Amino acid sequence: MSILPLDVAATNPIDVTLDNLVPLSASALWHRQTDFYQSFDIQAWDSRVPFYATCNPYIANAYANAIVRYLQETLRDARPDSPPCHIVELGAGHGIFTFYLLRRILELSQSLHLDHLPFVYVATDCVPGNLAFWKAHPQFQPFIAAGKLDFALFDALTDTQLNLQVSGRVLSAEEQDGASAPMVLVANYLFDSLPQDLFRVVDGVAEEGLVPAAPTIPDGLPDNAGLSLTQSGCPVTYRPLSSQARYDDPELDQILATALQRGSEHHVLMPVAALRAVRTLSRIAGERMLLIATDKSYGADTLAAMQAEPGLAFHATAFSMMVDFDLLGMFFQQRGGDCFQQSTNKEIGTAAFVCGARFDALVETRHALEHFLDRFSPGDLFGLYAHLQQVQAGTSLNVLVSYLNMTGWDPHVFDSHIQHIYAILDHSDLFAIQDLVRGLPLMAANYYELNAHSHFFEHLGVLCQRLKLFAQAITYYQQALQRQPDMPSLHYNLGLCHCALNDTAQARHCFNSAIALKPDYIAARGWLQLIDSDAVVAQDVT
Ligand SMILES: C[S@@+](CC[C@H](N)C(=O)[O-])C[C@H]1O[C@@H](n2cnc3c(N)ncnc32)[C@H](O)[C@@H]1O
Repeated sequence: MSILPLDVAATNPIDVTLDNLVPLSASALWHRQTDFYQSFDIQAWDSRVPFYATCNPYIANAYANAIVRYLQETLRDARPDSPPCHIVELGAGHGIFTFYLLRRILELSQSLHLDHLPFVYVATDCVPGNLAFWKAHPQFQPFIAAGKLDFALFDALTDTQLNLQVSGRVLSAEEQDGASAPMVLVANYLFDSLPQDLFRVVDGVAEEGLVPAAPTIPDGLPDNAGLSLTQSGCPVTYRPLSSQARYDDPELDQILATALQRGSEHHVLMPVAALRAVRTLSRIAGERMLLIATDKSYGADTLAAMQAEPGLAFHATAFSMMVDFDLLGMFFQQRGGDCFQQSTNKEIGTAAFVCGARFDALVETRHALEHFLDRFSPGDLFGLYAHLQQVQAGTSLNVLVSYLNMTGWDPHVFDSHIQHIYAILDHSDLFAIQDLVRGLPLMAANYYELNAHSHFFEHLGVLCQRLKLFAQAITYYQQALQRQPDMPSLHYNLGLCHCALNDTAQARHCFNSAIALKPDYIAARGWLQLIDSDAVVAQDVT
């Protein structure tokens, strides 16, 4: 089948200037992304852009298992003074995944007796405000001090080297001396933020989708809902492809040609910016690299999904599109590398790519990918998460505790079920309650400080108070108060716990603090009176 109708294009070239139409990747649509992240920096995640699906302890554990095995297999002969492998996270944004993944890699390396393998984790983003936030973040300080965490301002669209801000090292293709360690790249929800091009094949004829150079995006588009390009103010006009050398770049042109030949009626979303960025980074890595990415993507049935024109979903003014991991896979395969994709079609997909080797020569890594990224993939977990959010009412504490355990005691999951947990606590199985109590410190350790408005520690406090674990409740309320010192109810509840432990001096102090913040706090005034009249009874305080 001849896909590219050069004869047609000769009489009907794409007239970009006349209609002010451009390839999708050249549309100003993409500037919204960069403008959004640059202007909001860390506030981008204040309920604006979703991040749970790609940033949780479960997915971090999956990545960590694959990465540690890759380090084991590729750094076999490393000595303590060997050059470190750089684990580079692109578009790290808020830093949550950095926190979970780095911590888990360190834990696993230790428990597998692989802690001699030299590595440095490098969190990167194109937004300086995000880097400033990470550098000052208290939870990162021990990793920085141990030489395990570094940072780099890296724009995947333009930069060709990584300037590490802590060590001062420069990672570039020129610095490669052949003796360097391989690199690991992590890219979650990044490739779908980078410019892509759109093509389609109709009756075996290839066309490129062109969109307005400066589209007018309608106001008030629904958040997180799938929209067509037309609904998003970007109607697509298809024109025959004018040349087989669309990109004037043999590697990209080969990928496009192969993608167009996958069927006779389908669309191709070409992740052109992601491909270029990955190529730059693989050069920096001396062509020895493992990439793990999670994005909106399809698994084995990409072609079926691409019968329809791909759309997008807005998150505030940023947006996301699907990413075709098959095409990234082709890039690695062209270089003698390999690709591993999760086999199920989920809302998000995870894939691993390697250059410098094939996965059948990296048996430990491959086993970890099969076990941790495919058997119950991060996409499967996200599906379960969304389902349990909806059917909360019928879920027992037993089931919730199993689920929390499976997520690696995820504070976000706990928080999102807390009202239901309060509601069923009194009628729940004692063993389930005990398991939950054992999980509370694990969840507290998993809490990453991002949003000062979080009620996580308050929820831990209330739960412990309800279970009459007053000393534990006091610890959690104090942690909550460090974050929200002006919340009267926290002082009040803390006072109740002190009452329960017969520490009336502390209780009085707390009730007074609550009243100072809220003078008409009747309950706090009532408890002060009870203290004064020596009438406090422990069971009253839960
Ligand atoms: C959707 S967020 C993903 C954040 C995080 N990885 C996650 O999974 O939640 C996209 C991130 O990529 C960053 N980003 C956007 N364009 C970029 C570019 N050209 N180069 C590097 N980072 C970019 C943004 O600043 C933002 O932090």
